Amino acid sequence: MCGIVGYIGDNKALNFLLQGLSKLEYRGYDSAGIAVNCGENIFVEKAVGRLDALKEKLHNQKIDGTIGIGHTRWATHGRPSDRNAHPHTDCQENFVVVHNGIIENYMALKENLISRGHKFISETDTEVVPHLLEEFYNGNFLESVQKVLKKIEGSYSLVFMSKAHPDTLICAKQDNPLVVGLGNGENFIASDIPAIISKTRNAYILNDGEIAVVKKDSVKIFNRNGEVVEKKIFHVNWNAEAAEKGGYEHFMLKEINEQPKAVRDTISKRISKDGASIELELGWDKNFLDSINKIYIIACGTAYHAGLVAKFYIEKLARKLVEVDVASEYRYRNPIVDDKTLVIVISQSGETSDTLAALKESRRLGAKTLAITNVVGSSIAREAEQVIYTVAGPEIAVASTKAYTTQLILVFMLALYMAQIGKTISTERARELIDLLKKIPAQISETLSDVDPIKTFARQYGFNEDVFYIGRSLDYCVALEGALKLKEISYIHAEAYASGELKHGTLALIVEGVPVIALATQKSVYEKTISNIKEVKARDAVVIGIGAAGDTELEKYLDHVIFVPNTDELLIPLLTVVPLQLLAYYAAITRGCDVDKPRNLAKSVTVE
Ligand code: M6R
Repeated sequence: MCGIVGYIGDNKALNFLLQGLSKLEYRGYDSAGIAVNCGENIFVEKAVGRLDALKEKLHNQKIDGTIGIGHTRWATHGRPSDRNAHPHTDCQENFVVVHNGIIENYMALKENLISRGHKFISETDTEVVPHLLEEFYNGNFLESVQKVLKKIEGSYSLVFMSKAHPDTLICAKQDNPLVVGLGNGENFIASDIPAIISKTRNAYILNDGEIAVVKKDSVKIFNRNGEVVEKKIFHVNWNAEAAEKGGYEHFMLKEINEQPKAVRDTISKRISKDGASIELELGWDKNFLDSINKIYIIACGTAYHAGLVAKFYIEKLARKLVEVDVASEYRYRNPIVDDKTLVIVISQSGETSDTLAALKESRRLGAKTLAITNVVGSSIAREAEQVIYTVAGPEIAVASTKAYTTQLILVFMLALYMAQIGKTISTERARELIDLLKKIPAQISETLSDVDPIKTFARQYGFNEDVFYIGRSLDYCVALEGALKLKEISYIHAEAYASGELKHGTLALIVEGVPVIALATQKSVYEKTISNIKEVKARDAVVIGIGAAGDTELEKYLDHVIFVPNTDELLIPLLTVVPLQLLAYYAAITRGCDVDKPRNLAKSVTVE
C-alpha cells in the first residue's frame, strides 16, 4: 500500500502535494517523494523516512511549478531508500511516475528494457513504467500511456507526468484506489479522499481499467478500450477523520475488510503459471532441507499464534519437526540450536524487540534464519539471512487482523513449498491445495458479507465478564487468536482451551450462561469436538459454534452457529478467524472501548 497525489492548476503544486501526502501517510511511511514540472526541467526530490524528512530537504527551496505528483511509500520491491522512493523517471527525465501496487511482470520487462539500453537506478518494480513510456512515446501522451498499460500486468494506481505536456496529468487504476478531486480551475489526484477533502468534496472515483486525463479545467475519463466514460460526480459527505478510515468507523474494521486484498496480494506471483507449484523467493532445494533437522518458530502475540498454525502446516505437509516459542521465553532458556536448526521469526512490524533479540541469539548460535514480516527494510528483515514478506500494507490498529491472515497464508505457502521440494506431498494433492488457496480471498469476502448475526451476539454477550474459546487441532490455534482479540480490545476475560483439556480442570468454570465459542471445522477430530461441545452444553453454557458450510450436524448441539465457506481443513483457519475478529470488534464497540488504541498497549513493542 502506498499513497499517491497529483495537482494541476494555477497554485504552487508543492503545497497541495505535501498537504495531501500528510493525509495519506497511513498508507505508507517508509519514504516519500515529489516531482514538480518547473518548465525547463522536472524537479524531483525524495527522502527515506517519514514525510518530515522530505519536508526538511525541501525547506528553503524555491519550487513554483503548478503541476506535480507525489508519493508516500510502503515498500514491496526494494528496501526503503532515497533511490527506491517514488517518483521514478525514465533515462532522460522526460517522464515521471508514481505508483501504488505491484507490477507482476516487471522482471521480464526490465530485462528487455536493459537490453535496449535503458538504465535503471532503483530496485523497484515501478521503474519499468517510465522507461516503457520513454520507449513507446510518439508525441501523443495518452496513446503512449495506453500502450504502457497494455504491457504491464499486476495491480496499480499510477500517475504520469510528462515534461513536454505541462498542462496534463494522466492517471490509471487497476485494483488500487484512485480518486480525481474536482476543483475550480484546478484538479487533484489522490489514492484516497482524505488527501483532497480540504480542497474539494466533489470527485470522480475511478473504476478498474479507467484512465483519466486531468487538465486544470477538465477531466476526461476513458475505459480500457479507449472509449469515453461518462461518470457521476461523487459528493463526499464524510468528515476528514472518517475519510482517513475509508468511511469505516475504526482502522480495525477497515483492516478486517482489507483482508481479501491483503491475502490476494500476498499470494500474488508466488504460484507457478501452470498452477502446480508454489514459488517462493528463497531458492531452497532438497539439500538445504536435508541439512535441517529441526525448525524453531519464534514470535510474539498474534504472530506467535500464526507460528502455531505454521508448526501444524510444516509438520503435516513437509514432515519436519517444528517447535514454536514466544520470543521472550526462547531467548532466556538456552535453546538447543545449531547450524542444523532453521529459525523462522514472524513479526508484522519487524521491530518487536523480543523477536529481534531472539533472532540475534539464534544467529549467534549458528542457526539458519528466515524472517516473515510485513515491513520491508525493518530491523528483523535486515537481521535475518532470508526474508519473505506478507503484503498486508500498513496495519494501524493495535489489534492485528490482516497481518495475521497474511501470515497464515504465507506460512501455508512455505509449508507447501517445502513439501514440494522435499517430495512429501503428491502432485495431485499439491494442486488441489493450490486451487483451494486461490479461492481464499473470495471466501474471506463472503465471510465478511454477513456480519449482522455477529453484531447481535456481541450485543447479547458483550457484557459477560468471561468467555471461553474451545477447539481441537487447528481450531485450537484459531481459538487462541480469537481470545486474544477479545481480551485486548474489549477487556473481557477470554481464554482459549484445547477442547480435550476441559475435563482436566477448566470444566469447573463452565456454569449456566457462560459463553463458549466452539470451533468445529477439523474433520479429523470432528466427533471428539462434538463430545466436548456436549460437555459444556451439559453445564448450561451458551455455545456459539463456528462451522464449515454444509455441516448439518453442528446445529443440533449448539445455541447458535456461524458458518464460514467450506474449504480444506488446513485452510479454514483463514476463514474462521474472521468472525472471531468481528465478534471482538463489536463486543468492544458494545462496551464503548477505544478499539484502535486499547489501554496499556502499543502497536509496535520495541521494549523488552
Ligand atoms: O509486530 P509484531 O508482529 O512482531 O507484533 C507482535 C505482537 O506485539 C502483536 O501481534 C500483538 O500481539 C497484537 N497487538 C495482537 O493483536
